Amino acid sequence: MANSLLITGASQLLTLKGRGPRRGAALANLGIIKDGALLVCDGKIAAVGTRAQIEALPEASSAERLDLGGRVALPGFVDSHTHLIHAASRAEEYELKIAGASYEEISRKGGGILNSVKKLRAATGDVLKQRARRALSQFAAYGTTTIEAKSGYGLEVASELRILRLHKELAAEQPLEIVSTFLGAHVVPVEYRGTSAGVKTYIALLTETLIPDISKERLAEFCDVFCDRGAFTRGQTKQILEAGKRHGLTPRVHAEQLTRTGAAQLGVKLGAASCDHLEQINPSDIAALAKSRTAATILPGCDFYLGLNHYAPARKLIDAGAIVALATDYNPGTSPTVSMPMILSLACSQLRMTPAEAIVAATINAAYSLRRDQHIGSLGVGKFADLAVFEVADYREIPYYFGVNTCWMTIKRGVVVYAANKTTI
Ligand code: NIG
Ligand code: FE
Repeated sequence: MANSLLITGASQLLTLKGRGPRRGAALANLGIIKDGALLVCDGKIAAVGTRAQIEALPEASSAERLDLGGRVALPGFVDSHTHLIHAASRAEEYELKIAGASYEEISRKGGGILNSVKKLRAATGDVLKQRARRALSQFAAYGTTTIEAKSGYGLEVASELRILRLHKELAAEQPLEIVSTFLGAHVVPVEYRGTSAGVKTYIALLTETLIPDISKERLAEFCDVFCDRGAFTRGQTKQILEAGKRHGLTPRVHAEQLTRTGAAQLGVKLGAASCDHLEQINPSDIAALAKSRTAATILPGCDFYLGLNHYAPARKLIDAGAIVALATDYNPGTSPTVSMPMILSLACSQLRMTPAEAIVAATINAAYSLRRDQHIGSLGVGKFADLAVFEVADYREIPYYFGVNTCWMTIKRGVVVYAANKTTI
């Protein structure tokens, strides 16, 4: 049979069988098959079961074979919140933070997002692309097969469009799927700051020029706003997200990260695909998210990197019934990591999620937040064969070995896109 692959030898195959998204107790259901196997045809899963069941299928005999050697296999991670395209690190801010400066203090002194904006505007397309390519291959090396990517370090027409077009170009040249989000409302750029007329003009540029153009060129599926002190107010956020909706861009929102603004409940009202961060949410926000179909995406890498002890209340969100997802928030200012396994470790030790809950949050629930749970995020017949394989005996060891990359192989649509390097010792 053309293009068919028989994958065997998964000591634990985490299928996440069943419908997504997952809430409450269903978040712990991994659908594990011991000595699991998959038959993959043309990049999609044709059959899933035990080795004996799959090997007995007539199509299996002519398929190419891949033996996972008793390792643990699960759906590839879906990293549903990244700021992929930026020109450089902000390592210079790292020491300021360690010495006690807050994220907002650094931003006020010309650091922060505006620092990255300056660097991006000055960078060539090649520099941006090279950096993103390196990151994409690292994402794959940690078991991630799909990422969301936000613009937001351009904050002028040409630079924002340049970032979104880069998403498209990168998606075409390498195997990971890139889901594009417009974040022109990251902060108000310097040239519009200082007066309320200036801010209004910038918002008009977003709602009347950029959003319609992006929609026409199909450069993004989602529209995001950083709603916080020092960024956009709740009222401005509503105006921008509604403009996005009118042009077919589904809302997502950076909500309640540094201060509580009411952005999470606004996101719910607007039917946002996801509200992200949520460190400062209160009980009424938890209740609103729990009742809604909006994902609650937690980004523990930020709090870890910023050295803040204010992680989002994941346990309460799960217990109330919210659709909890996890993501890296890969960005140069608050979460310079591409490692979903590290995010799982933080979710377990800091958010008190179980390893099973963390895996579900990082796969099927994250896929749901990108409107892709019909295609990715679990290993069921008809879905894409996106897999991460780990060099562990038990899935719980993935978060347990924190800061250690135990990813052994990553498969995207049936194609091996990462295999662990052989060391010489
Ligand atoms: O998700 N909070 C706003 N945006 C990013 C930070 C971006 C930056 O500092 O460059 C975040 O944490
Ligand atoms: Fe972010």
